[in-house]
Amino acid sequence: MSAASRRAVLGGALALAACERQAKSAPAVYAPSLKSVAPFPIGTCAQVSHLQQPLWVDLALRHCNRLTPEWEMKMEYVVQPDGGFLFDRPDRLADFARDRGLRLHGHALVWYAQKPAGFLNLDERRVSFARAYDNYITALVGRYRGVAASWDVVNEAIAEDGDGWRDSLWAQKLGPFDHMRRAFDRAREADPGAVLFLNDYNLELMPKKLDSFLRLTEQLLKAGAPLGGLGTQTHVAADTEAGAIGRAVSALGQMGLAVHVSEADVSMTRAQGMFASRAERERAQGRLYAEAAEALLALPPAQRFGLTLWGLRDRDSWLRNENPTDSPAIFDDSGNAKPAAAALAEALSRNR
Ligand code: XIL
Repeated sequence: MSAASRRAVLGGALALAACERQAKSAPAVYAPSLKSVAPFPIGTCAQVSHLQQPLWVDLALRHCNRLTPEWEMKMEYVVQPDGGFLFDRPDRLADFARDRGLRLHGHALVWYAQKPAGFLNLDERRVSFARAYDNYITALVGRYRGVAASWDVVNEAIAEDGDGWRDSLWAQKLGPFDHMRRAFDRAREADPGAVLFLNDYNLELMPKKLDSFLRLTEQLLKAGAPLGGLGTQTHVAADTEAGAIGRAVSALGQMGLAVHVSEADVSMTRAQGMFASRAERERAQGRLYAEAAEALLALPPAQRFGLTLWGLRDRDSWLRNENPTDSPAIFDDSGNAKPAAAALAEALSRNR
């Protein structure tokens, strides 16, 4: 090989290496403060461990004005085996929200997935199940009265296949419909000012589930339950069909209640679809976040409850437990804005 052609080959290899370096460290993305551009609240889920991380706190305060406790206000945390309640961490989350001026969205009072030992082993000769159930809701909602402006009262009531309601300890003990109705009534008594939600997932993916959710909404309203809002969790994958999120949000809006995109994330690793490149997949992710924002913006202002991100940074996401390589959030592990953050900010500001 001549010296000239060796130079050409080496030069080519260097250029290629430079290209790859560039591809790995994508160009910096700028996203303005989401809460400043959004005409409705922007939320994040949070755990007490986040509050001790200055970088997380900076990011949350820059972009968000609502906080949903990720699990430390759930029964699993609060209800102790002896039936007592533990409020230490819920208090810290509530104090943080109050001190830093974020709205607090309580989550979640009744959830089929959680049936703590304190309820399973309840001595019903001493205290009836209904009494213990009432007492729990009254204690929790009452404690944060005036601090939590809203609550997910019943979480994930609709069956997995969308056909009817889920079976649960609560349904078995207190009745499939009555336990829901009862939870709404107790929450209303404990804090008459809080907006009370029914919250569920896969509503954008399963028309049957969405339909059952809307029928349950009607039934609760007809029975006089103080239901004030509908939450669509919006845990989707990057290959979710365009328009699906918008259709679900708009259908919920038809009920005339407040609508919350309550737990938004867009999984990359759950996506089955083929993407030509990483950049293409990131664009798809951004479009879905943007679609959620646009769908809320299409509702009458009074019904736009807000958009809550289920994990600010990729490393904060619960989906990392399922797949450690997933990157479903709008900020990367270091808190840098990803293309999805820019797409979301753009959608929010475009429609002001
Ligand atoms: C998840 C949290 O993110 C996890 O940290 C926790 O261990 C389990 O629950 N639907 C819901 C949320 O309503 O409460 C769930 O959050 C995610 C699915």
